[in-house]
Amino acid sequence: MVPQCWEAFTEDDHAVWDLLFARQVELLGSRVVSPFLEGIDLLRLSHPGVPDVEGLNAILEPRTGWRTVAVPGLVPDPIFFAMLSERVFPVGNFIRKREQLDYLEAPDCFHDMFGHIPMLANHDFAEMARHIGDLGVAACDAGQGDLVARIYWHSVEFGLAKEQDELKILGAGLVSSFGEAHFSLEAEVERLPFSVDRAMHTPYKHDAFQPRYLVSESLEQTVADVLALGAERVLSSES
Ligand SMILES: [Fe+2]
Repeated sequence: MVPQCWEAFTEDDHAVWDLLFARQVELLGSRVVSPFLEGIDLLRLSHPGVPDVEGLNAILEPRTGWRTVAVPGLVPDPIFFAMLSERVFPVGNFIRKREQLDYLEAPDCFHDMFGHIPMLANHDFAEMARHIGDLGVAACDAGQGDLVARIYWHSVEFGLAKEQDELKILGAGLVSSFGEAHFSLEAEVERLPFSVDRAMHTPYKHDAFQPRYLVSESLEQTVADVLALGAERVLSSES
């Protein structure tokens, strides 16, 4: 982990955040689960400029016990899961350039802060994310980290969820993507009901739109299902 060095963000970096924020909020509208929109308001993410980690933590930590720390790039799974189990979320200390608004290889602070942090202000979701951290630590120790990485992927990162019978975006990878947000809801791709067993056994793509999405019957149900999952059941699953 590194200091965020908020002062190092240039005027153009802040302008890129503002551009991405405005564009994405308009694109999402109400097509995203409601706790996400509540989180955006609670964390005052609509304030102009790249949010500073300390300001976010001052709101987030008293609420759900989670805090963010700045990192220079992707964190390997065993360390990432250990951080989640401590209620720590790593956020990139950089933002994409204006020329690459729609794509980037490594998650930057727009993906991390806009995509992930609002949901961590929701108590139930925050608890689920911590539990995934615990499961991930145990699974990585046993050489089965992929199983928990898939649960994370199909819920926290690229999950969809029903809300009052409407299909909504849940995952941060979709929330923060200009192209894939609508694609995930509207394209002719497979959408299968989420279960922890299906998630553990459904591979995913890092570098392209997903060929299939798992849909939570409700966010509450997925939180309950994941919280009911013990490490023994993960470790006894075939990978
Ligand atoms: Fe992410």
